[in-house]
Order: sequence, then structure tokens, then C-alpha cells
Amino acid sequence: MPPLDLGVLISGRGSNLQAILDAIADGRLDARVRLVLSNRPGVEGLARAERAGVPTRVIAHRDFTDRDTFDAAVVDALRDAGATWVVLAGFMRLLTTTFLDAFPHRVVNIHPSLLPSFPGVDAQQQALDHGVRITGCTVHLVDAGTDTGPILAQAAVPVLDGDDHDTLAARILVQEHALLVRALSWIAEGRLQVTPPAAPGGRARAAIAGVGTALGLAAADTALGLAEGGRARGGVGEVGEGA
Ligand code: GRF
Repeated sequence: MPPLDLGVLISGRGSNLQAILDAIADGRLDARVRLVLSNRPGVEGLARAERAGVPTRVIAHRDFTDRDTFDAAVVDALRDAGATWVVLAGFMRLLTTTFLDAFPHRVVNIHPSLLPSFPGVDAQQQALDHGVRITGCTVHLVDAGTDTGPILAQAAVPVLDGDDHDTLAARILVQEHALLVRALSWIAEGRLQVTPPAAPGGRARAAIAGVGTALGLAAADTALGLAEGGRARGGVGEVGEGA
């Protein structure tokens, strides 16, 4: 298969972008980042892209009167750059159907919770406020809802006594980087299968061929036990591979 031609949309720090760039550089991900596009100028993620020799663009949402015209400009930039898949890596804008129709089932998001729990902004604080003991991260395809699209992969992360927003976010972020790269590599291998909704208004489903369940465990200083079929592994792993 040819490498994935990625456009990566960011709004800030770009650590997930960095994970993608690093995985490409050391051969773990068969992809090319055709464009890194930010809706905010001067952010750290743009500097990361420049250091990696990747083209960058800034399209400021504030320069547009509505979401559709902003999205159309972003679509044009991605197409001009040759991107055929889009990764939302900390991109803090909701996308319209103008965008999603341009890349059907080809927009991937990383979200710092186990969806469908805690969609939207500050998922880590939502998890702390709710008092959950396990949270995590999710890679999913983007649909017109907020963090509602078909789930590709999830990794579980324990909430530890004494966690605050920053400690929890940092523990989740380690898993985000691994999970996003893993999910993109599955896509690059042609293993993603999307099943349309069975009925109008229903839910599309995503599956990864050859992977029964994509599930990981955070390596933390707690013996969190979680297993499927009697097996549990540390780090982002594949439980039920080949099932
Ligand atoms: C990550 O937590 C990601 O899950 C969320 O926004 C954050 C972006 O971080 N969507 P970074 O810019 O990739 O460092």
C-alpha cells in the first residue's frame, strides 16, 4: 500500500503531532505528513512541524464569518497539499459537514477519555470531577457530533489517589501518543473497516481487521488488573489479536 498522506490539524502544543512525526521518522508508521495546519498562529506544534521539515499553514478561524467558509478554506489547503486523511491532534474547532463530506470516514480524532464518557472540553477534569477510577483515551473517526464517531481504539488509564488535572492529563497523554500511532498504523496497513449504519439515523461502526479488541493498560504504579481472555498487558497493547 502507498503511505498514508496525512494532514494534521492542531491548535496548540502538538505533542500528538510529534508522536506521529517521530513514528514516521523511525519507521513505525508508513505515512507522510503533507501539511500541518493550525487555526492559531505561533503555537508550539507549528515549530515542531518546521523542525521536521513539514509544510505548515495557519488559517485563523477568526478571519472567517462562519464555520462553513472556514472549513472550506481548510479543505482547500489540505487538498492542495495532497492530504487524503486528516488527523485532529488537539484541534479545538468543531467541523461542519462541509469538511466531513470532503473526507468521508477519513478524519481521525484523539480524545483524552474513554468515550462515550466525558466528550467535549477538558475531559480529564470531567473524569476527576465525576470520581471515576479508570479513564483513558480514544481514537475515533469524526462524525457531525462532538466526539461521537465510530471508535477505533481505546486505552485505559487509572485515576490515582491525589491526582490533579495535570498529573492525570500527563498519564493519559503517554497513552494518547502510543494509541494514535498504533491506530494510524492500522489504517496505513489497510485494516480499517467501516460499517455504515444499519438503519437511517443509526450509528456507523469501525473495526480493525485482525484485532478483536484494541485495549491498553496504563503502566502506572498501581497494579490495575484488566484482562480479556485471561490476558492482561502493560502499555498500549492488543488484546485478542487475531480473534
Ligand atoms: C490532547 O489531550 C488530545 O487528546 C486533545 O487535545 C490535547 C492535545 O495535545 N484532543 P497536543 O497538542 O497533542 O499536545
